[in-house]
Amino acid sequence: MLRWMTLLKIAQIGHPILRQTARHLSAEELASPEVQTFIDDLVETMMDANGAGLAATQVYKPWAICALLVKDNPRYPYKPNIPLTVLVNPQIEVLSDETFENFEGCLSVPNLRGQVQRHARVRVTGWNRDGSDFVQECVGFTAGTMQHEIDHLFGRLFVDHVTDPSTFCTWAEFDRHHKAGFMQTVQAVVAKYHR
Ligand code: NI
Repeated sequence: MLRWMTLLKIAQIGHPILRQTARHLSAEELASPEVQTFIDDLVETMMDANGAGLAATQVYKPWAICALLVKDNPRYPYKPNIPLTVLVNPQIEVLSDETFENFEGCLSVPNLRGQVQRHARVRVTGWNRDGSDFVQECVGFTAGTMQHEIDHLFGRLFVDHVTDPSTFCTWAEFDRHHKAGFMQTVQAVVAKYHR
């Protein structure tokens, strides 16, 4: 049956759903048409909004599911590509003490970016959308994106990690005043982790 994709509404900071811990899904729930259709809509909504990722809690569903996709992303042109990934019941484990400075934004935090420290090496485990095991070691910006998305499933937003509030900026002011400095960090992170 032909089915139109549905674009979901994205919750904005202040809505309590963004502070809720998502619940794990059983294998049976994951296989259900309801959840599989939801995953299609989550991915479609993420792509429509040019997000690098989108978590179920961001579209008002307290389920432990998030999607990631970075392919020449216009919001984050410096990020190395991440193939379309759907994570179910993900857990994250820090693999080293290394951190890096990231300048993050979020579809649930309109027109704001801020500087956060992220772990540079993590292992993500969980399920793929078909219920098979997902295990991946991620580094650099990919590790940062994973931390951002999985944070959403624990009710955390990037603003919680901004230790210096003076780094908060709109996207326009980021381009004007912070981008050049951050691009030096980007080059260092790419050289260290993405070559
Ligand atoms: Ni986000």
